[in-house]
Amino acid sequence: MKVAVLGAAGGIGQALGLLLKTQLPNGTELSLYDIAPVTPGVAADLSHIPTAVKVTGFAGEDPAPALIDADIVLISAGVARKPGMERSDLFNINAGIVKNLVSVCADICPKALIGIITNPVNTTVAIAAEVLKQKGVYDPARLFGITTLDIIRSNTFVAEVNGVRPEDLNIPVIGGHSGITILPLLSQSGFEFTEDEAASMTKRIQNAGTEVVEAKAGGGSATLSMGQAAAQFGLSLVRALNGEQDIIECTYVEGSGDKARFFAQPVLLGKNGVEKILSYGDLSDFEEATLNAAISTLKTDISIGEDFIN
Ligand SMILES: NC(=O)c1ccc[n+]([C@@H]2O[C@H](COP(=O)([O-])OP(=O)(O)OC[C@H]3O[C@@H](n4cnc5c(N)ncnc54)[C@H](O)[C@@H]3O)[C@@H](O)[C@H]2O)c1
Repeated sequence: MKVAVLGAAGGIGQALGLLLKTQLPNGTELSLYDIAPVTPGVAADLSHIPTAVKVTGFAGEDPAPALIDADIVLISAGVARKPGMERSDLFNINAGIVKNLVSVCADICPKALIGIITNPVNTTVAIAAEVLKQKGVYDPARLFGITTLDIIRSNTFVAEVNGVRPEDLNIPVIGGHSGITILPLLSQSGFEFTEDEAASMTKRIQNAGTEVVEAKAGGGSATLSMGQAAAQFGLSLVRALNGEQDIIECTYVEGSGDKARFFAQPVLLGKNGVEKILSYGDLSDFEEATLNAAISTLKTDISIGEDFIN
């Protein structure tokens, strides 16, 4: 099994690399790529951690050597937000980066499962899909937008107000990964929320990324919590590829399209990626209304990505 991280010298990439080096199953290869010249050094640094995970690092303009025989590719390459920016403000730079990297994935490891972290995820996943389609290798079961950070934030914040352990919660978050398109299903959290409480908790979860961006005061966006989220998701992909059953993650994938072409919801993972897109169950009236209000934004985000490629 080989896992590649593209953007591996960045804030997320380094945290993710560390977690994967210490948590991937013995014998897994971890391949790190970034345009930054420090990347082989990041790999050398990680390689001194005593686990049976072989780490290699590649820098420069060409991601291809890092992608040979990759089974899973996690992409966090790109620029992050600064205070005052929305995720959509990153589009101009990150769209081209994702396009180029996914295009090389299509050539070198067309069967790999690809997880996109680079924002704006609502749009960059659509870009990736269109690139893969143009290359004739698109399989919707193998492309994921990584929205796990929204789930771990929901678990943390809801546990905090209820005085329970966040590890014991698993709150589904559906829709997309920015602003109003992030919809935590608090009605399925096991706790009672009044409509006002649900509205304010939902807002906190939707704005949690901005909370970090502002606290870092120009030094970037969430990297450590995102590293953890991406590691959780990446390790779930590894388990599913290794034949483990009942691996379920909320993730942004192309499904039935009844709400939008791409939509985040619980997905059963298997040896071919998406095994089955699961129902997200019943919504409260508040959730139903919030979701309906977000769909046009999500659809616009998706079409911006499609138009960029076509
Ligand atoms: N999905 C999520 O929930 C989530 C959460 C937080 C951040 N993000 C996004 O993740 C991305 C990375 O964030 P970060 O904090 O790690 O940023 P960062 O600036 O610390 O790291 C980005 C890395 O990408 C590299 N890079 C740039 N262009 C590249 C290319 N063409 N090929 C390879 N590497 C390239 C840079 O050299 C840098 O090392 C941002 O777009 C950010 O918005 C997503």
